[in-house]
Amino acid sequence: MNLATPAIRRQVTTPPAPASPFPYNPGSLLSVLDLSVAAVSRLLQRATALEHEDPIVRDRILAKRRIALLFYESSTRTRTSFELASKALGADTTLVSNLSSSIEKGESLKDTGLTLRALGAEAIILRHNSSGAAWLLEQSTRLPVVNAGDGMHEHPTQALLDLRTILTHLRPGIGEVGPETLAGVTVTIVGDILHSRVARSNMLLLPRLGARVLLCGPKELLPEQAARSGPGIEIERNFEAALAQSQSVMMLRIQAERLAGLQLDLDEYKAAYQLTGQLLAAHAPSAVVLHPGPIIRGMEITAGVADGIQSAILEQVTNGLAIRMAVMERALVPSEQEGGRA
Ligand code: CP
Repeated sequence: MNLATPAIRRQVTTPPAPASPFPYNPGSLLSVLDLSVAAVSRLLQRATALEHEDPIVRDRILAKRRIALLFYESSTRTRTSFELASKALGADTTLVSNLSSSIEKGESLKDTGLTLRALGAEAIILRHNSSGAAWLLEQSTRLPVVNAGDGMHEHPTQALLDLRTILTHLRPGIGEVGPETLAGVTVTIVGDILHSRVARSNMLLLPRLGARVLLCGPKELLPEQAARSGPGIEIERNFEAALAQSQSVMMLRIQAERLAGLQLDLDEYKAAYQLTGQLLAAHAPSAVVLHPGPIIRGMEITAGVADGIQSAILEQVTNGLAIRMAVMERALVPSEQEGGRA
């Protein structure tokens, strides 16, 4: 077959519009857009309630429920916190990694998911290097699928834990959140926006709570069209000017594994976009510093800032545990309020 013929090329490049992907399994979380603002508020409140719950009571919430962690990419924070969160609710967990499973022999994502379901998995937490993989797994298995990061697409639980961290610092003691909760707050995201699923999930979540999201980075890592990703998103390429407007600064790692041949002068990058103690003191002395991790000390952030008093990086990690407990409860315990896709 000659794939280069115009007729075939048309077939390949313009597939029919897909039917609506809904209904998802109501426990799935593929994107922050799966959550209404009210649902985000409920998750945040459940995270706090579960964090303070008696461990013996908490242990019964998902007692003996089976959760599979399916990881095609390396992870420290997300994998460990999902596993600990699931176990804190009493669930049994099993980890399947691409490096030590039949994925290495060529088994597809669909067949791996169906195999896990046949073994009794009731929910799957997926990290994958391809954007859209979580959606494919959901469609193949119809189990609750929780997206733990899919390619350059989304990392919804990271955005939720980032939100919890921002609220702790900028809106302490707040109960419910709504569309105006972060009005007047500018969160600046700095660095490799192009390849960052964390940036994308935050860009889709924070403006719905009233925040302004300012993106900062060089053209290679931050294309102009990023400002058109949604309302409340702007670009400021000058790092000092961006810092001066920020109540929170989220630094990102350059994702070397996704650069695909893109050449960056790292010395130039550091000179323009590295967060140093001097810059922070001069332009954003009270901003909360975030980083999803892993941090590369001496590249996007200095060790002094990472370990400094404005850094909330380890708080983010801790918040991941509470948020992921709430997300796994949502995945497996039907809620009347959720009513499916709230
Ligand atoms: N933030 C984050 O996704 O970190 P890990 O890759 O270590 O899970």
